[in-house]
Amino acid sequence: MNSLDTYSFENKKVLLRVDFNIPIISDESDSVDDTRIRLSLPTIQKILSENGSIILMTHWGRPKGKHSESRSLKNLLPLIEKLIGRTVTFCEDPLSDETFKLVQSLKPGQIVLLENLRFYKEEFEGDEKFAEKLAKLGDCYVNNSFGTAHRNHASTATIAKFFPYDKMFGYVFESEIKKLDKLTKSSESPFTLLIGGDKVTTKIGIVEALLPKIDNLLIGGGIAYTFAKAKGYNVGKSLVEEEYINVAKRILETAEKFDVNIQLPVDCIIADKNGNDANIEHCEFSEIPDDWTALDIGIKTVDLFAEIIEGSKTLLWDGPLGVYEMTHFSYGTLKLALTVARATDKGLYSVVGGGDTIAALNKYSVSHKISYISSAG
Ligand code: 3PG
Repeated sequence: MNSLDTYSFENKKVLLRVDFNIPIISDESDSVDDTRIRLSLPTIQKILSENGSIILMTHWGRPKGKHSESRSLKNLLPLIEKLIGRTVTFCEDPLSDETFKLVQSLKPGQIVLLENLRFYKEEFEGDEKFAEKLAKLGDCYVNNSFGTAHRNHASTATIAKFFPYDKMFGYVFESEIKKLDKLTKSSESPFTLLIGGDKVTTKIGIVEALLPKIDNLLIGGGIAYTFAKAKGYNVGKSLVEEEYINVAKRILETAEKFDVNIQLPVDCIIADKNGNDANIEHCEFSEIPDDWTALDIGIKTVDLFAEIIEGSKTLLWDGPLGVYEMTHFSYGTLKLALTVARATDKGLYSVVGGGDTIAALNKYSVSHKISYISSAG
């Protein structure tokens, strides 16, 4: 199997799949968290230092097969150029003759960036013809997008078939596999899984895979209300993924079978609308009034979660506990980020994953305290 350190990139055109799916961290500006771009720099530098040229491919958000100005990678071009320290040519239509000609004429050290591949439904359908056309742009394929390792997409799984020999993982992918293997195979107990964020669908895999290994499962963020609904609580207007209520029930039952201590929030911060100018109240988790939306965990929950985290030896955290981008609903995420940082100082092995969670840690200036930051959500 090839690796970045053994393969010769001399004069090669390298199709590099990166995960530049970076979160927008402020609701009132276009400021983004650039961690995922920074993480790819060693792989990019390695290829350039060996006189390879690079065709960068990534997705950004979930534009569902349609062009969207706000998710065009053109918007990230200045940031990407600044971080790489070189000019990057943007290709608006990845499969056009113009792009093909441009790529053919690439000189060693030059870089192009293809437009957001999720503007094409063929990308997330894993379409063979689409992948084959992309594959024709390069002499070899490097996958550095660990965050999409679970996706059967054209630029991840399908394209690899067109490079029977000249393919390999980038440094991010290699290092994630090593670190996460360590977490799942030799973690110390008590092992706590803290999950938040707003989509149950993106957490099912990780929760079900880890249930046999963990001691505590702490559930916050938007996904908590699908679990609340599964338990028959009043959720008001809070976010519920109706189609995942049964999945939530299954997770709660399986957790019990494995004797995992499941902790849902006990209280929450509710608002009469989604915004910093909303009226705010505090209520029991099981009794959210009809016209109100829960947007953060409450103070009692924060204390309860903090106590469990402080008593753990291993922690995996994925997903913010509230709408942390808005000051009014950032307390839960902020307080637990500080708790995790302090507990790590005292010996906790902490692993944090997911674009938004990393962005939150960066916002509160505690990411350097975490044992391992995974680029994957
Ligand atoms: C992530 O942010 O977790 C990865 O970039 C994958 O994004 P996706 O869940 O939209 O496929």
